[in-house]
Amino acid sequence: MTSLVHVSVLSTLHLVLCLTTYSYAYNTNSFIDKTDGNTLQEACGPCFVGPAGPSGVPGVPGMPGSHGRDGRKGEKGESGEAGTTGQVGPEGPLGKRGSRGRKGHPGDRGDHGEKGSKGDRGDRGPPGLPGVGGYAVREPKKVAFTVARSLKLGPLIKDSTVLFDSVITNVGDCFDEHTSHFVCRVNGTYLFTTHVLSQNNKDVYAWIMLNNKHKMPLHGDGRAGYGTGSQTVILRLAKGDRVWLQLRKDSALLNDFSTFSGYMLFED
Ligand SMILES: *[C@@H]1O[C@H](CO)[C@@H](O)[C@H](O)[C@H]1NC(C)=O
Repeated sequence: MTSLVHVSVLSTLHLVLCLTTYSYAYNTNSFIDKTDGNTLQEACGPCFVGPAGPSGVPGVPGMPGSHGRDGRKGEKGESGEAGTTGQVGPEGPLGKRGSRGRKGHPGDRGDHGEKGSKGDRGDRGPPGLPGVGGYAVREPKKVAFTVARSLKLGPLIKDSTVLFDSVITNVGDCFDEHTSHFVCRVNGTYLFTTHVLSQNNKDVYAWIMLNNKHKMPLHGDGRAGYGTGSQTVILRLAKGDRVWLQLRKDSALLNDFSTFSGYMLFED
């Protein structure tokens, strides 16, 4: 109600002002469009607008405004594409010691080792089994032999056993034909005798030997032409003792005249 009254008041004031202005313009012959015969209502509008004035001088630019407030945070963008592979980094520090591995397969057989040093003497072994029954060895109760040499010998270049190739007697079989040694088989007392003949103008030296000992010497002088030498010895022998004739270096024997004999006098 109040606004309607207000509008009405304004319209009345506007009409009064318009009539006043029109009346003034008409009376002063300053009316612009009096020939068109326009109605008061039509002519009244433009009469408020005068001709356009000259353009004003541009104003001075205003001062820059103050910065506005920060905008709101934007939404999260999409994930980017995968980058290219980078360069290999530096070698890292040594890791911790690992757990013990499984046992490997046995290796190849090694080379033969060097011969070891001699070991200690072993313990005494256990007693052996009883032996089988033996048989009584029949030792000779009678011993006697004579042997001779049928071939020349020497002169010798070194001391040598006289080998007798002719066995005349060998009771008891104590003379060994292979070595020309008498080998005692029964303890006892024995007599030995020998006779040698040298070659012409050659001396002869010899010994009755007992186990590598020069037991008894004999000699034949070559200045008499065919020298001869003889010797007899009684020896107490034990089983295994050996008796033989040894000719000295440079001596020489003629054939068929040299002999060697022996026999047991009595048993122990
Ligand atoms: C023979 O003589 C040796 C040495 O004297 C003696 O050990 C041994 O028991 C004797 N043998 C016999 C059967 O008398």
